[in-house]
Amino acid sequence: MIVTTKKLFEAAYGKFAIGAYNINNLEQTMGLFQGNIDSQAPFIIQISKGARAYTHKTMLEGLIRSAEEIFPEAIFAVHLDHGDEQTCYDCIESGFYSSVMIDASHEPFEKNIAITRRVVEAAHAKGIVVEAELGMLGGVEEHVSVDEADAKLTDPDQAAEFVERTGCDSLAVAIGTSHGAYKFSGTQALRFDVLEEIQKRLPGFPLVMHGSSSVPQEEVERINAAGGRLIGAKGVDANQFKRAAQLGVTKINIDTDGRLVWTRVHREYFRDHPDNIDLRKPGKIFMQEYARFIAAKNEKLGSAGQLETVRKLLGG
Ligand code: G3H
Ligand code: 13P
Ligand code: ZN
Repeated sequence: MIVTTKKLFEAAYGKFAIGAYNINNLEQTMGLFQGNIDSQAPFIIQISKGARAYTHKTMLEGLIRSAEEIFPEAIFAVHLDHGDEQTCYDCIESGFYSSVMIDASHEPFEKNIAITRRVVEAAHAKGIVVEAELGMLGGVEEHVSVDEADAKLTDPDQAAEFVERTGCDSLAVAIGTSHGAYKFSGTQALRFDVLEEIQKRLPGFPLVMHGSSSVPQEEVERINAAGGRLIGAKGVDANQFKRAAQLGVTKINIDTDGRLVWTRVHREYFRDHPDNIDLRKPGKIFMQEYARFIAAKNEKLGSAGQLETVRKLLGG
């Protein structure tokens, strides 16, 4: 069942975070649904602009509709990840997405507010909810490259004004994370002090943490042992997710860790089976491994076992 992120956040706020996982293909879609059903977790499917362009935007919709039939128990939101204004309108018009993210965080404050406000008006008119972003993460986002040195943490005072003036339904905050496999040039630490200040000014309001992959060292070592070259890759400590959830983070975005699972499975498979040309063999292993990965991640987020609670909240 497709629901809005707003409904999921009502169940989660202050207690646990919902995993927001990116998909691009069939294997990720199957593993994602299987892992969330295995761990009895509600979840958010994220679709980036790059994912929409990879095959065709309609293909992803077809995959999700089919997965919904295969896993009728599943409760999830379909969310545009890092949308620009036009892509947000396209998703709002499509009638398929239950939630969009407008990412105008690279714009000056007033322009970010103006763009976000326009998207909120269009989305709310159709019952769709909006995530916006204030502050800048380090690392690379689509069309926006920000040096870690220039990364700008969210200003708590501005956050309160931004939410008030835009009417957005959730806010992505920059508290030290960054996208990709190379986070934290120094020590691995989330800025809980900044998060606490944001929550004080926005009590009860759902916050979002992007760039939250953990980049497990064991995964990196296996990839490198199978011919990869990921040097100095580092991520967020997943044991900090629950503390973040208690401070108002209701959605935690994870994409890179899934890519690491894909890379490890395929590199090891082809290293160990140099004669194989059947794409289904590593594909099948990936779906199983991805499902296990999702279930384990949901334990860290606290969303594992929450499916029935959410179903009851929805009146089902
Ligand atoms: O934040 C970006 C997500 O990891 C999606 O990545 O734009 O390469 O699909 P992508
Ligand atoms: P990671 O690169 O840490 O997985 O972050 C993903 C993300 O924020 C997608 O919006
Ligand atoms: Zn992101």
